[in-house]
Amino acid sequence: MAIFEIQSYIGTIFEIQSYIGTIEKNVSLYEEKNFDKRIEVIDFIGFQVIDQMEELLRKTAQPDKLISLKYRAEKVKAELEEIDINLFQRLQANIRMERYTGKKFKSLINEYVDFNLDYNEHQEETGYDNLDIFINGLSPFQTMPEQTKDLEPEMVYYQKTPARIVFELVEKSHFKKEDVFFDLGAGLGQVAILVNLLAGITAKGVEFEPAFCDYARDCAAELNLSNVTFINVDARKADYSDGTIFFMFTPFKGEILQEVLAMLRKESLLRKIKIITYGPCTAQVALQSWLDCATPADDNVYKLAVFSSF
Ligand SMILES: C[S@@+](CC[C@H](N)C(=O)[O-])C[C@H]1O[C@@H](n2cnc3c(N)ncnc32)[C@H](O)[C@@H]1O
Repeated sequence: MAIFEIQSYIGTIFEIQSYIGTIEKNVSLYEEKNFDKRIEVIDFIGFQVIDQMEELLRKTAQPDKLISLKYRAEKVKAELEEIDINLFQRLQANIRMERYTGKKFKSLINEYVDFNLDYNEHQEETGYDNLDIFINGLSPFQTMPEQTKDLEPEMVYYQKTPARIVFELVEKSHFKKEDVFFDLGAGLGQVAILVNLLAGITAKGVEFEPAFCDYARDCAAELNLSNVTFINVDARKADYSDGTIFFMFTPFKGEILQEVLAMLRKESLLRKIKIITYGPCTAQVALQSWLDCATPADDNVYKLAVFSSF
C-alpha cells in the first residue's frame, strides 16, 4: 500500500471504531420505543460500515484488527435487530388477541414510527420508508413466496402499495362499519390486512397468483383476522356482490382493466360503490363516465384517486 493509502486506511478504521463505540454506549438505541433511530443505525452498519470493512479486508495483509472490529459491528447490529424481533413478536401476539383494532392500532404505530401523511402529496413515485419496515415487521412471515404462474401481458407484476398510502386511503375513505373493502390484485395481502386493522371493516383480496394468495391467507390466519379473506381467482371472474369499496394499485391494464370496470359498473347499478386507485390505472378509471372523481384531477399518478359511482 502507498503511504496515502495507509493513512486513509488507518483513518477509516479509526472512524469506524469510534462510530461503533458511540453506538454501543447509546442507551436510547436499546430502548424498544426508538424504532426509527434504531433502523437508521442498523441500515448504516449493514450497508456502509460492514461493506467498507469488507473492502478494507480485501486490501490488507494484516486483517486481525479489522476482523475483530467487523465482529464488533456485526454484534452490535445483531443486538439491535434482536430488540425489533422481540418487539414484533409481542405486537403480533397482541394483534392475535385483538388488542389493537382501529384507533388503537394507529396509535400503536405512532408510538414507534414518526410519519407524516402530508408527505404523500408530494411523492411522485412509490417510495418506501420506516413505516413500511415497521409494517413488514408485523407480518408473521418474512420470506416472499415464488411466483408459480406466468402473468398475461396486461397483468402487472407484484409491487406493494407503500404503507403510508394505505393509511391515507383509510383516512380519506370514511368507511362505514358495514362497508366491504376489496383489493383487486391483492399480492401478499398487506393492503386488505391493514385496512381491516385500521378501520375494522371486512376486507377481501382477489389475487391471480396462488402462492401469493396462500401467503396472504396464512398471514391473516396467523394474526387471527377472521374478517380478512383472500380469493385466488382472476379478477375477471371474481364475485363482487358484497363489495362497496374497491382498491386498485394498477393490478392490470388495457382490456382486462376495462372488463373488470364493466363488472364493477354492474355492481354500481345495485348500490353506490367507491373505486380508489393508485398508480397509472388512475388515467383509465378517470375516463369512466359512470364515475365521479372526488379528488382533484392531478398528473401525479402516485397519489390516491377516489371515484364514486353516481
Ligand atoms: C401492483 S401489485 C399490487 C399488490 C397489492 N394490491 C398491494 O398493493 O400491495 C398487482 C397484483 O395484481 C395481481 N394480478 C395481476 N393480474 C390479476 C388478475 N387478472 N386478477 C387478479 N390478480 C391479478 C398480480 O399478481 C399482483 O400481485
